[in-house]
Amino acid sequence: MSAIELQHIIKNFKTPTSDVEVLKDVSFSAEPGSLSLVLGPSGSGKSTFLTIAGGIQTPTSGVVTTAGQELDKLSGKARDALRLDKIGFVLQSYNLVPYLTVGEQFTLVDKIKPKNNLSHDELDQLLDDLGIGDLVNQYPASLSGGQTQRVAIARALYPDPAIVLADEPTAALDSPRVAVVGQLLADLAHKRDKAIVVVTHDVRLEKFADRTFTLLDGQLSEGDTSNAA
Ligand SMILES: Nc1ncnc2c1ncn2[C@@H]1O[C@H](COP(=O)(O)OP(=O)(O)O)[C@@H](O)[C@H]1O
Ligand SMILES: [Mg+2]
Repeated sequence: MSAIELQHIIKNFKTPTSDVEVLKDVSFSAEPGSLSLVLGPSGSGKSTFLTIAGGIQTPTSGVVTTAGQELDKLSGKARDALRLDKIGFVLQSYNLVPYLTVGEQFTLVDKIKPKNNLSHDELDQLLDDLGIGDLVNQYPASLSGGQTQRVAIARALYPDPAIVLADEPTAALDSPRVAVVGQLLADLAHKRDKAIVVVTHDVRLEKFADRTFTLLDGQLSEGDTSNAA
């Protein structure tokens, strides 16, 4: 069973002056144990694609199935519960709580989802792997962009989700850090059977991916055709 499946997704945005079709009949699936990379230039619909895949936005038409459940057949409450249980998001806005220290960001996750999160040792290891183990007492405002990005990655992985959806997770990172994050995500997919989907314009991640897709003008195709664009 696919972890996430999108069938014939169309997404239109209507504004007073225009009606834009951002996703044009996009179909996609992500399997447990694989890292999928969706490449595309700015404005190509990557964030729209990812938030629809994760049930944060609803499509204009088409079907999204997460862990075997069709999202539009669930109540809002059931959808929220499924998302909390199954999906770790790394969003572009990072979503760290400004008045909590780095360490407290994880305590907050424990309050929202008390069970089945990483153990203390596993969290320590994750923070060390990401090179942020010594930041636990700092507040988000005192972190660099790259540190913030790595804390957001750790926070998404801490609940041990079956599915990880990451939006430009490496935009603020230098190449050695990109390699660390790429390898970490690939290991999570391969060793812990996670389904990981990364949308990005960062081609430095390509060598870690099992499958690469290109999103261009609202259409998704398999393979890296970004150079042809
Ligand atoms: N809520 C919205 N209302 C109107 N247009 C939107 C909205 N969200 C995204 N768009 C438009 O959809 C297109 C794709 O946006 P986005 O998915 O953010 O692309 P990407 O993440 O690849 O940069 C852009 O042209 C953007 O302006
Ligand atoms: Mg985006």
